[in-house]
Amino acid sequence: MQEREQWRSGLGFALAAAGSAVGLGNLWGFAYRSSQGGGLAFLILYVLVVLVVCLPVLVAEMVLGRSTASSPFLAPIKAAGENWKPLGWLFAIASCGILSYYAVIMGWTIDTFFHSLFIGLPSDMTEAGEFFGKISSGNSVFVGQIISLLLTAFVVVAGVRGGIEKLTKWAMPFLFGLLLLLAIWAATLSGAWEGYTSFLLKWDSSQLFDKNTISNAFKQAFFSLSLGIGIMVAYSSYLNRKNHLPKEALRVATLDTAVGLLAGLITFPVVMSFGLKDVISESTVGTLFIALPTGFANLGLLGRLIAAVFFGLAFIAAITSSISLMEVPVSSLMDRLNWSRKKAVWTSTLVIFLIGIPSAISTDFLGKSDAICNTLLILGGLLISILLGWIVPNRYDEDLANSNANLRVRRYLKFMLRWVSPPVIAIGLYLTVLSTIE
Ligand code: PFF
Repeated sequence: MQEREQWRSGLGFALAAAGSAVGLGNLWGFAYRSSQGGGLAFLILYVLVVLVVCLPVLVAEMVLGRSTASSPFLAPIKAAGENWKPLGWLFAIASCGILSYYAVIMGWTIDTFFHSLFIGLPSDMTEAGEFFGKISSGNSVFVGQIISLLLTAFVVVAGVRGGIEKLTKWAMPFLFGLLLLLAIWAATLSGAWEGYTSFLLKWDSSQLFDKNTISNAFKQAFFSLSLGIGIMVAYSSYLNRKNHLPKEALRVATLDTAVGLLAGLITFPVVMSFGLKDVISESTVGTLFIALPTGFANLGLLGRLIAAVFFGLAFIAAITSSISLMEVPVSSLMDRLNWSRKKAVWTSTLVIFLIGIPSAISTDFLGKSDAICNTLLILGGLLISILLGWIVPNRYDEDLANSNANLRVRRYLKFMLRWVSPPVIAIGLYLTVLSTIE
């Protein structure tokens, strides 16, 4: 048996967990979903979903990882027996599934970065369509996908301390600082206020009960927090007893929401100032790869430089997420088959590359994979809340008591995990399945 690694510091764990959460999903999903009619109602629902259901489940995932000190594949079995084996499989399938198309989108990000610096960006809507066609088809997509997977693999091969912790420690503060600067710059654009009020702050109370807006809030919350997929199980299995998990979970959720908001505060002014209002609600990726590059291009050379910074940042945000996705199959193979980290990483990379080929060829296929994986995350969240809320509730209690979480916090979390999360997530799952098959 190989010896289990540990994080060098609590901060290292917190940043890695936040790094997993903050990614392309914040940059492309948050702005797009809030622009789909939801506006402020989407934001309210999103925050509610995060506070009411995601936080207790996030803590539950962390407890499952820390208390079993096992990979996402074995942790459910260790906690509750062989009957829970399918949950390990769900984690493995969902993480490989997401990484298979996430790497393709990372490739588009690299391509856009190079266009910003060396080739130029589209300056009107006709050119924008052609531009997206160019970055999302042909052989260059495979090049981008392979580079992204290889970079991810190199970090994961280096291990928890030497790779993941080292990268996220400098990347996260850098990312946050620059996004803040970009949001301040966007606020100075002429259409800034109109941008905020037409999208983020648009108020329509009927949206609070709209099934698509509700399902969007669920999808965005689970995807963005990297929840229901075993990532937090994997990362927490390298933790010692001291970390106060509820505090860590709150930190991750706050930072993640802040980055989603910042992305919106950058996107909406740019989109409004340069007359790109219609592009944003067409598709998720449209916001990031059509509207934003075109908006930036309107500012000439300076705009191209800002675009390069933005897409460079997007790639950094993405890689701290892709490494966490890869850690799920890797730690599972190491744990289950006693493979070396190296062997587990390269085998996973190859498999993920192969299943990503259809997404690299067809954006339609990519969209469908995304819809299915989003549903799997919510299903994973539901099963975790049942596992730790009902099947092995003592584990939740004991682990939190050991880490000195205060009694009121523990009671609140336990109540929510048992009585609120399962039914509410079940409703979210139902609405998401409905919106996917419609
Ligand atoms: N949370 C990351 C993002 O928002 O881009 C990506 C991600 C990682 C999604 C892990 C889902 C997941 F399970």
